[in-house]
Amino acid sequence: MQTKLRTKASATLTVNNKQIELPVYEGAVGPDVLDIRKLYGEGGVFTYDPGYQSTASAESQITYIDGDEGVLLYRGYPIDQLAEQSNFIEVCYLLLHGELPDAEQYKTFEKAITHHTMLHAQFDRFFEGFRRDAHPMAVMVGTVGALAAFYHDSTDIDDSYQRMVASHRMIAKMPTIAGRAFKYTIGQPFVSPRNELDYASNFLRMCFAVPAEDYVVNPVLARALDVFMILHADHEQNASTSTVRLAGSSGANPFACIASGIACLWGPAHGGANEAALKMLDDIGDVKNIPDFIKRVKDPGDDVRLMGFGHRVYKNYDPRAKVMQKLCHAVLKEVGAENDPMLKVAMELEKIALNDEYFVNRKLYPNIDFYSGITLKAMGFPTSMFTVLFAVARTVGWIAQWAEMIEDPSQKIGRPRQIYTGAPRRDFVAMDKR
Ligand code: SDX
Repeated sequence: MQTKLRTKASATLTVNNKQIELPVYEGAVGPDVLDIRKLYGEGGVFTYDPGYQSTASAESQITYIDGDEGVLLYRGYPIDQLAEQSNFIEVCYLLLHGELPDAEQYKTFEKAITHHTMLHAQFDRFFEGFRRDAHPMAVMVGTVGALAAFYHDSTDIDDSYQRMVASHRMIAKMPTIAGRAFKYTIGQPFVSPRNELDYASNFLRMCFAVPAEDYVVNPVLARALDVFMILHADHEQNASTSTVRLAGSSGANPFACIASGIACLWGPAHGGANEAALKMLDDIGDVKNIPDFIKRVKDPGDDVRLMGFGHRVYKNYDPRAKVMQKLCHAVLKEVGAENDPMLKVAMELEKIALNDEYFVNRKLYPNIDFYSGITLKAMGFPTSMFTVLFAVARTVGWIAQWAEMIEDPSQKIGRPRQIYTGAPRRDFVAMDKR
């Protein structure tokens, strides 16, 4: 990646009675940044920003979010246009290469991904090591990391060809591994990928086909899953992407880096929120229980949260949530569940929250996870698979961001500092003197 930072001005910081000039850079759009790289060397101080709420960890040209305006762009293209007019494989090409493919590029790329969907025959034995009731995300973390034990010919991160092969392998094999993680936990035989199927249809078949009968892909559900994956493909420097970048900054191989991203995504504050949101709607159960639940959310002594609401960056409606809500209605209609009581609870909860000052004052709006759980449940996925689907979709974003970091000439190993407030130096005390 060639930097496109432009020096706009400089800021003068007075610290320890010393004036330090810090460059201010501007990007293509969005907030400027203050380059603090020389702050410790010249000022002897660190910045302090737990959770990185005001810190840009990287220059990136992949995804842009305007949280106040509810804008999400992949390589400049608005998410609602991509969801409406594109497909997941085309979005993968866009995220990886920076431009929409022409017909020839699309065909070549789709073929390259299809070519890598199978797994090494011995790989299937990994799943046997898990208990049948293992959470599929535990299986994903364990098995994706193990890919490095099978594909040594694409782990040299300094070889651009190997980086490309590893990228294709990761995107191609995630649905096959996820399908196996699901089948293993429900005790059904694994289903191999089929080259004649598109990405989403292949994944649905690997999850829901059984040897006892032919499986016919429902095109409405396949398109819904394809759009679900477009919406989840990338999201700038979110927690799991930052984890992948940090792991990659040490030179770790791409399979290990993606495994670290899956581990981080699992948390309920992040990718696990879709599973948590559905559990919350299930616990509420009926519209009449919403007022009591809202009371609990507002109670400072109760740590319950409105799962699927709020976002570190979006202080307006998550643009993905709007598309997800439409998708939710389409899927529920297709499967004949448009009267799903859970949808009624979700819509009533959203209406109340959007008019309640507790949520309005904290700029808490539905995020992508609020409607995704209901949609995936209607498609036949158990809640334990929701974050797995998020991981399958986000793999292209993780890989694109990882590759951008590797190709960034200014990148160094990530190594944050701290402010220490622990015990000062003291000598060891023998047991009989304590
Ligand atoms: C994803 O980063 C990304 O881009 C992530 C993601 C992606 O695509 O990668 O978009 C995917 O992770 C979406 C977010 C999914 N998580 C949830 O839905 C879980 C519920 N949401 C929250 O836990 C929370 O909103 C976060 C974690 C998403 C964001 O939290 P912040 O920005 O750190 O905000 P905060 O925790 O400091 O909260 C600020 C205030 C607090 O109230 P006060 O202490 O000021 O009184 O808002 C309150 C919080 O208590 N608050 C909520 C709330 N979220 C924040 N109160 C009730 N319900 C919530 N959901």
